[in-house]
Amino acid sequence: MTVATQLFDLTDRAILITGASRGIGLAMARACGAHGATVVLNGRNAEALQSRVDELTAEGIRAEAEAFDVTDEAAGRAALERIVGRHGRLWGLIANAGVQHRVPVLDFPTEDFRRVVDTNLTACFTLGRDAARYMVEAGGGRIVNTVSMLGPQARPTVPAYIAAKEGLRALTRAMAVELGSKGITVNAVAPGYVATEMNTALIENTEFNAWVVGKTPLGRWADPAELGGAAVYLMADAGSFVSGQILGIDGGMSVQV
Ligand SMILES: NC(=O)c1ccc[n+]([C@@H]2O[C@H](COP(=O)([O-])OP(=O)(O)OC[C@H]3O[C@@H](n4cnc5c(N)ncnc54)[C@H](OP(=O)(O)O)[C@@H]3O)[C@@H](O)[C@H]2O)c1
Repeated sequence: MTVATQLFDLTDRAILITGASRGIGLAMARACGAHGATVVLNGRNAEALQSRVDELTAEGIRAEAEAFDVTDEAAGRAALERIVGRHGRLWGLIANAGVQHRVPVLDFPTEDFRRVVDTNLTACFTLGRDAARYMVEAGGGRIVNTVSMLGPQARPTVPAYIAAKEGLRALTRAMAVELGSKGITVNAVAPGYVATEMNTALIENTEFNAWVVGKTPLGRWADPAELGGAAVYLMADAGSFVSGQILGIDGGMSVQV
């Protein structure tokens, strides 16, 4: 293996990716798997997950499924225990599962606010903390959270999402400074507008679609596959000294006035 390929090699690294039954999580799993990782796909729908595992396996990737709801702390802990039991250690966690709920702030129900924060923020804390306990025992590991361009910047109708993602940015920094001495890096990727199921209604909305294209210097939505490289980088030797960082992958949208 050349030095160049070794920098991005993930052979023998078990990585749990939440929200990997489709969209960005699946793309990150595929990219890490293509670089040699054993990828453990998570989502709530066991059947959908298994068909993704079969798809990746057919591509020559070592893939497994762990179906659980990330807001179920006990289920997350049990899955981590099984993964460590099968592979000896957990190299990485990509806490990517997320939900959106679009309602104007004056009408936004409290229970939906709590659900969005539970899934997009609190679950990243509980699973990240529990994964980090195993990583400490193993001498290190990597955690990557999926945040958003939204947080530092806001739009109407998504108050819970914005609050949760901004909180997750802060949690990323908090965990990075505390876990660095244990050999664990904690970073986040901040996608711009990515063409996934979460955004189906927006993509089909001619006006919104034109706004995204016009506001993005690269002039288009991202393909989920374009998030894969960042996951590989942050999980690989290439990213070994990167911690506490939020990596924007937004076609330049966040820096455009
Ligand atoms: N798409 C974008 O433009 C964009 C931009 C910035 C950030 N993001 C973030 O990127 C992440 C992935 O988004 P996406 O666009 O790929 O969304 P997506 O296509 O809707 O996929 C979401 C994934 O999360 C899983 N999921 C949802 N709730 C879950 C729960 N409680 N427990 C376990 N899994 C759960 C879903 O599987 P099941 O439904 O089967 O459980 C699915 O695999 C999210 O955190 C999102 O906020 C997306």
